[in-house]
Amino acid sequence: MRSDLGTDTLTGAVRVRGAGRAFDGRQVLREVDLDIAPGEFVALLGASGSGKSTLLRAIGGLDRGFTGSLEAPGSKAIVFQEHRLIPWMSVWRNVVLGVRERGLEQRARIALDEVGLAAKAEAWPATLSGGEAQRVALARALVRHPDLLLLDEPFGALDALTRLKAQALVGRLWSRHRPAVLLVTHDVEEALLLADRALVLRDGHIAESFDITDPRPRSVVEPEFSALRRELLVALGVDPDAPTGAHHE
Ligand SMILES: Nc1ncnc2c1ncn2[C@@H]1O[C@H](COP(=O)(O)OP(=O)(O)O)[C@@H](O)[C@H]1O
Ligand SMILES: [Mg+2]
Repeated sequence: MRSDLGTDTLTGAVRVRGAGRAFDGRQVLREVDLDIAPGEFVALLGASGSGKSTLLRAIGGLDRGFTGSLEAPGSKAIVFQEHRLIPWMSVWRNVVLGVRERGLEQRARIALDEVGLAAKAEAWPATLSGGEAQRVALARALVRHPDLLLLDEPFGALDALTRLKAQALVGRLWSRHRPAVLLVTHDVEEALLLADRALVLRDGHIAESFDITDPRPRSVVEPEFSALRRELLVALGVDPDAPTGAHHE
């Protein structure tokens, strides 16, 4: 565990204490404690239904039904597995939808350029590939200059190659802008590639925390990763010697 988290000298981007959430009398989250430092990249793993999205939504301010205390920056952006673009608005208008500043089109173009989609500014969402649509969703998050970026399995629906490219893009964008990031994923390798820490949500709370200290950019073929990868898979209840390393839902 990092010793600099949760101390008085450091104002964290996220501070969750004793958070709980029940649906219809069933306790999904219980006594969740979580700190994310400014600029820190945290991956949140856990089996399907373990409460990852529930926790992310609470941190994102989308759920008022939790108990306990929760602090998060006012400036945050969320990217979901589905791009959630509005079909009858052009790509650039989607990017700046709800932004109340001047020079919207120029801002949208800068953000689209960062995700390699400047050429698609005037396109309709329906004409984009799945990977492109997720990159637009990232541009829409970036244009808000968030202090906290919440990513809920943003590449879960992409094919393997597109997913690798999108992961590398997120790594680059994070290095350039340094928001705090909470990335929900069920992909151990994605966590190892991108995060400073990987947390495992189990039995309704953060059951395990793994520091990932390798310098970036990283490659999953690095031998240092194999031990961590095994530990994480075991923590997730997956056989690390199974033919495929990814934990699929
Ligand atoms: N709005 C809701 N109403 C009822 N049950 C919910 C609601 N949201 C989530 N749940 C339940 O809470 C549990 C955790 O869900 P979720 O946070 O989506 O899991 P994960 O993202 O880890 O797959 C699941 O059993 C799910 O059915
Ligand atoms: Mg989920």
